[in-house]
Amino acid sequence: MVAAPGENMRVNADRLWATLMDMAKIGPGIAGGNNRQTLTDEDGEGRKLFKTWCEDAGLTIGVDKMGTMFATRPGTDPDALPVYVGSHLDTQPTGGKYDGVLGVLGALEVVRTMNDLGIKTKHPIVVTNWTNEEGARFAPAMLASGVFAGIHTLDYAYDRKDPDGKTFGDELKRIGWLGDEEVGARKMHAYFEYHIEQGPILEAEEKTIGVVTHCQGLWWLEFTLTGREAHTGSTPMNMRVNAGLAMARIMEMVQTVAMENQPGAVGGVGQVFFSPNSRNVLPGKVVFTVDIRSPDKAKLDRMRARIEAEAPGITEPLGVGCSIEAIGHFAPVTFDPTLVTAVRTAAEKLGYSHMDLISGAGHDACWAAKVAPATMVMCPCVGGLSHNEAEDISKEWASAGCDVLFHAVVETAEI
Ligand code: GLV
Ligand code: MN
Ligand code: MN
Ligand code: MN
Repeated sequence: MVAAPGENMRVNADRLWATLMDMAKIGPGIAGGNNRQTLTDEDGEGRKLFKTWCEDAGLTIGVDKMGTMFATRPGTDPDALPVYVGSHLDTQPTGGKYDGVLGVLGALEVVRTMNDLGIKTKHPIVVTNWTNEEGARFAPAMLASGVFAGIHTLDYAYDRKDPDGKTFGDELKRIGWLGDEEVGARKMHAYFEYHIEQGPILEAEEKTIGVVTHCQGLWWLEFTLTGREAHTGSTPMNMRVNAGLAMARIMEMVQTVAMENQPGAVGGVGQVFFSPNSRNVLPGKVVFTVDIRSPDKAKLDRMRARIEAEAPGITEPLGVGCSIEAIGHFAPVTFDPTLVTAVRTAAEKLGYSHMDLISGAGHDACWAAKVAPATMVMCPCVGGLSHNEAEDISKEWASAGCDVLFHAVVETAEI
């Protein structure tokens, strides 16, 4: 038995950084970041490396039927539920080296530090890598944690298709990470997730640690617009049924709706598929997704209703058909006050500047919060930039957040 870690006890900043850089070698992007999208060969390679690191740290790996990896460090009380600490190793197609990865490898650094210091906790610690947090290849985001929390069924998840028509279930088998554990069978004492902020607030306020109290809610709406394919040169303007023009006007309308709901709302279009996507063919079909978010549930739902109500006023005069499907949603989340306090107290004890934050991005913690007390720790990122290969953080920020995670986790897991 050792004493609770004092403020002089820190994680190993160099080891954390080297581990991040080693993972970043897998699935390099085209501009210095990463393309390690979920259930690709690169995801499989990243998982293998992470498994080796976990085994070297003495952890035992379990994998569930969604491919989520759980690496356990035993506790001293056989009846005590584990403290889960994790995030995701999958990336956007043009992702950075830290979004998600910092949370998984930061959790690994926490147990490595506990091993170094000979710290034993009553509750086991489980380092967790959730499958398909990003939702870039298979919508919706946070898919495995959503099944874990009972939000989606396993069959729903297995049936999700990527843009090439490959299913999540087939791809999970193909990369060899279909586990045998029932999804959601594990019970959690607590869940912590460490993440880069992915926004500009901490850097602008010159704070090192974000104490995350809430996460804003989200709707993803998939629009399918049907026009008529026709020659761009020879079709007179008054004879066009232009699905692309309708898309552009809806995109503008989404911008207006978000702007008219300030403060505390965002909205935009991140994905558009034009068909046939040829320079000299007016698109006969356009599929695109609208992403709207707000920390205020009533406002978020009003924005969705307004977008759906205004869309026909745009498409009908153009003769364009329009259908809308909600393909992703979570309501705003309030994190557990006791765990939030543990994070804030850890930052104070360690002498790091900190402030309370509302997460602008979605995280697996949002679904974990449905089944366990949960919270998050954040560190700044340069210029607030994320979902961009240029995403950047400093080694000092990475280790400061990990120090806070370490202290909050050890306190929660009880020495
Ligand atoms: C997940 O990365 C999100 O869209 O917030
Ligand atoms: Mn993330
Ligand atoms: Mn992300
Ligand atoms: Mn995310």
